[in-house]
Amino acid sequence: MNKVLLSLVIVLIIGLYGCAQKEEATEAPETVNAADLWMRISQDDPYTEYAFWPGVEGIMDGNAPHGAFIQTFVNDKALEPTEVGYPYGSLIVKENYMPDKTLAKLTIMYKVKGYDPQSGDWFWAVYNPDGTIEGEGRMQSCIGCHSVRADQDHVFLKNYR
Ligand code: HEC
Repeated sequence: MNKVLLSLVIVLIIGLYGCAQKEEATEAPETVNAADLWMRISQDDPYTEYAFWPGVEGIMDGNAPHGAFIQTFVNDKALEPTEVGYPYGSLIVKENYMPDKTLAKLTIMYKVKGYDPQSGDWFWAVYNPDGTIEGEGRMQSCIGCHSVRADQDHVFLKNYR
């Protein structure tokens, strides 16, 4: 009988320990990198099947530095903005076109909990159309300009909603 009780206690302790571990894991910032993100947006959940930025369907005129023409896609999460900003998991994929409308670059903002609290928790990435990575992470070149719109969670196109 004692042995049974003892095993129950052990099972309980292990169970509680497991829960505590899980708790910790969800608190830690999600790990994110441009290579995995490319697999996601090109194959697992292709961005070309996302919705267009609301109010801007298709290709529109762009501004420096994003190219002569741009086309912007958003995943479902990004379509649920809250009072304070975009929900975690929001993904904004922007195609940057040259004046002759060939695709030059993809620029991406991905909202990751705890990733960069000082600058809106956005992960930034730049790809060539074949998926090779031009830059990723807490890219100061992007943040420097987008922080002008810190009041809109670092997102410029919000004005088009
Ligand atoms: C000099 C300013 C500037 C820099 C630098 C810049 N952006 Fe932008 N970005 C803009 C503007 C302005 C828009 C709005 C659309 C437009 O006019 O092209 C925009 C739009 C975007 C969007 C669509 C969401 C939004 O904010 O409207 C993404 C995604 C994006 N930029 C990613 C990036 C990434 C990644 C970098 C760094 C490699 C970067 N941007 C650097 C000015 C900038």
